Amino acid sequence: MAKVIIVYETRSGNTEYMAKAIESGMKEAGVEVELKKAARAKADDLKDVDAVVLGSPTYVRAMITAMKTFLFEMEKADLKGKVGAAFGSYGWSGESIGIMTETMVNLFEMDVIEPGLKVKRRPTEKDLEECRAFGKKIADAIK
Ligand SMILES: Cc1cc2nc3c(=O)[nH]c(=O)nc-3n(C[C@H](O)[C@H](O)[C@H](O)COP(=O)(O)O)c2cc1C
Repeated sequence: MAKVIIVYETRSGNTEYMAKAIESGMKEAGVEVELKKAARAKADDLKDVDAVVLGSPTYVRAMITAMKTFLFEMEKADLKGKVGAAFGSYGWSGESIGIMTETMVNLFEMDVIEPGLKVKRRPTEKDLEECRAFGKKIADAIK
């Protein structure tokens, strides 16, 4: 079975709502998913996965610190050609999604699904539906 890891971080829970909805869209599409917070994720977690999905909110025009640290962990894994995707909640500018996407493309040479998914603040039911559809889209790319 195709396998995905979603690594995310959140401060006030909004990006976590997104992560869980993306996970549920993937599971419905029939792929195995592991959901892990960035602070606890290690390069070893990326060994046997077909796709890596990163989620971070935007704080002061950047990713949340734990995600920044995790990108240095990711550098230890061989991710070339694996599928990647980025998502996150934001308030007004939402830079984190572009930064995660850029890093996966340029540094890890991953095959990134673009555009990433941005949701303004707390996801509504409609936003969560979009998150589930995003999860399905990623799942379809690795099946
Ligand atoms: C101190 C602070 C700085 C923020 N800076 C930005 C920012 O630069 N750009 C932006 O789009 N949103 C910014 N936000 C809004 C957050 O991205 C938004 O509240 C988001 O939903 C938080 O996601 P989370 O619940 O997953 O932590 C900021 C919020 C706080 C509290």
